[in-house]
Amino acid sequence: MVKIAIFASGSGTNFDNIMRRVAAGQLTNIEVTALYTDQPTAPCVQLGQQHGLTVHTLSPKSYVDKAAYEQDVLSRLQAEQVEWIVLAGYMRLIGNTLLDVYEGKILNIHPSLLPKYKGIDAVGQALNNGENETGSTVHYVDAGMDTGQIIAQRTCPIYKDDTKATLEDRIKALEYELYPEVIQQIIR
Ligand code: GAR
Repeated sequence: MVKIAIFASGSGTNFDNIMRRVAAGQLTNIEVTALYTDQPTAPCVQLGQQHGLTVHTLSPKSYVDKAAYEQDVLSRLQAEQVEWIVLAGYMRLIGNTLLDVYEGKILNIHPSLLPKYKGIDAVGQALNNGENETGSTVHYVDAGMDTGQIIAQRTCPIYKDDTKATLEDRIKALEYELYPEVIQQIIR
């Protein structure tokens, strides 16, 4: 079993999907040790509890700086003997404290066809730019914002009558297939 930790900041539907795949035996040889969140009131917290997982709700503002926050995260990861970190809607840059130990073993999923539309509101950026297709990318995490080596991408159309909500739903449907596939392929 390879031990992984999942990091999320929001609704946590990708996290939930990964947990369901593991429970259904569709994602094998992986043990999720815990959910880590920087948003103690986010819906992902409740999802984590429903899955019976340890949920680390750590508020970065309550630490003196980012390094101190990440040091606490790192101590917990090491206590759980976590080998890989899977970011699933974790809306914070990973800093040197975690990268020094885990670089090359951190995956992220981002809702655009990187290198296009890095950063926040990638879905809105693609929509507002008049694109007729977009998608999602899984990549390794480095010190930049959505700049790490790309592992896999999947595309979907953008229709004329799309709103951000309809497009987000279409992208998330792709992500629920893409992320488990890449996790299974990369994390062994
Ligand atoms: C996902 O679409 C993911 O690609 C995106 O946040 C959403 C999280 O949804 N990630 C980023 O924008 C990272 N830059 P979820 O909380 O429902 O899984």
